[in-house]
Amino acid sequence: MIFRLDGKVAIVTGGASGIGEATVKLFSEKGAYVVIADIQDELGKEVATSIGIDKVTYRHCDVRDEKQVEETVAFTVHKYGGLDIMFNNAGVAGSQSSVLDLDLKDFDNTLAVNLRGYAVFIKHAARVMVARKTRGSIICTASTVGSESITGFDGKAYVSSKSGILGLVRATCGDLGQYGIRVNSISPYLVATPLATKVLNMDVSEVEEFGVAAANLKGIVLKPIHIAQAALFLASDQSAYVSGHDLVVDGGFLAVNSTFKFIQQFSKA
Ligand SMILES: NC(=O)c1ccc[n+]([C@@H]2O[C@H](COP(=O)([O-])OP(=O)(O)OC[C@H]3O[C@@H](n4cnc5c(N)ncnc54)[C@H](O)[C@@H]3O)[C@@H](O)[C@H]2O)c1
Repeated sequence: MIFRLDGKVAIVTGGASGIGEATVKLFSEKGAYVVIADIQDELGKEVATSIGIDKVTYRHCDVRDEKQVEETVAFTVHKYGGLDIMFNNAGVAGSQSSVLDLDLKDFDNTLAVNLRGYAVFIKHAARVMVARKTRGSIICTASTVGSESITGFDGKAYVSSKSGILGLVRATCGDLGQYGIRVNSISPYLVATPLATKVLNMDVSEVEEFGVAAANLKGIVLKPIHIAQAALFLASDQSAYVSGHDLVVDGGFLAVNSTFKFIQQFSKA
């Protein structure tokens, strides 16, 4: 029964595309019932239909809207009889610019999706888990760019939101531990999803080539399924005592300071 989710019920935000889509597929293969919460209706319905509408349901839900979030949680509990796994994963990249040209409307919108949207889903998912005495697992997609140890990415709102998720996870795991609810995050390195191809203005193979060139771990291309597998671990009973943790899926990227490689190249020794 390793890494099985038989009979468990999950909500996956941003489940219509990329990392979310791969996670919806993997969770349902492992026996879970999944509700996709997204705003890309056509894509979301296609994902649900391709897996089987007996196991996966698409629900339009804009994570910026608390009413839609609350209704999505209520819908899930009504349809599948509970809620065990909350995967907060919806995200937008926001605009890239120097802080000198910061667009505050874009800043607010990026935080509304990437951080506030996570907080709202944690609130409503946890309320249901507490009321039903469910020892649930809440998982949030952060990013390596949100780590304390690096900077340089031009999306100021994106970086702020992803750093914020790490704080949100620590703060909420402190609240929810007494109910047996675990809260963790996953910080992926670059994955060639629609979000990444758009930000970098490259196609999938170009993003992957760039990712491999900059990566620490060679001989492997990071794919959405690798992040889905990390989410599966955190959703499953095999991570029963893991809470407040950021599971970095970056092949050691954050552990290595690339400045030293740069220095080696220029060293006369
Ligand atoms: N791709 C990467 O390199 C990378 C790296 C680190 C972290 N991430 C994070 O992974 C998560 C998934 O992104 P992805 O790379 O799979 O990109 P993606 O664009 O394929 O998926 C993001 C999904 O979020 C949905 N979404 C956007 N705004 C929403 C809203 N208001 N309400 C509901 N859903 C909304 C989109 O419709 C889309 O389906 C994001 O949080 C992203 O920041 C991605």
